[in-house]
Amino acid sequence: MSRGRLITIEGIDGAGKTTLGAGLLAALRGRGLAVDLLREPGGVAAAERIRTLVKDPALRIGARAEALLYAAARAQLAEEALAPALADGRWVVLDRFVDSSLAYQGAGRGLGIDAVRAINDFGTGGLQPDRTLLLAIDPALGRARQDDRGEAPDRLELEEDGFFATIASAYLQIAAAEPRRVRTIDAGRPPDTVLDAALDALADLLPPGRRPGR
Ligand code: TMP
Repeated sequence: MSRGRLITIEGIDGAGKTTLGAGLLAALRGRGLAVDLLREPGGVAAAERIRTLVKDPALRIGARAEALLYAAARAQLAEEALAPALADGRWVVLDRFVDSSLAYQGAGRGLGIDAVRAINDFGTGGLQPDRTLLLAIDPALGRARQDDRGEAPDRLELEEDGFFATIASAYLQIAAAEPRRVRTIDAGRPPDTVLDAALDALADLLPPGRRPGR
């Protein structure tokens, strides 16, 4: 049996990652693939606990502790869910992965991309996505979409606009450095158009006969 594929979705808050994840899950399952949809931080019980902790606006969490918490959640997810699913031939659509830490903690918190990459390589054993879909959106539009949700902002969403502008530009630099893995999608468009673009960006990974149309 061939190994499954790890597809990650990245972008700033409000870019539409959750909507795309649900659309991809349905579209890929519709092509007969065995697919799991997971999110970070979270996806397995211990990582969901870390998610609650790291998003809590009442807690004081320094940049280094924050980076280590995300990496710890990811290490558990990789060991408990990602590695077994991929070994089993399943596809995993994952809402955020290492690039989130590179952009948010490496660039946004100023810890440095290389240092954050190193702790994540330790955590995941170097697991790499087969493809990363970067949803690129103007940070102001992302912020407006978040506000429209009417939910209380979490600890990171409370950050200034400049923090998100830094993250958005770090994501574009990551995409420029790894064009084979990372495909940038204009996420200012309607969800169906974004889903079509995402499926196009995965076409070469799909088994023959499962490629055309939606
Ligand atoms: P979300 O699942 O609602 O996007 O919330 C996750 C928050 O955590 C979001 O603000 C981005 C942030 N985050 C990081 O800062 N680093 C990471 O490695 C991950 C996975 C998320």
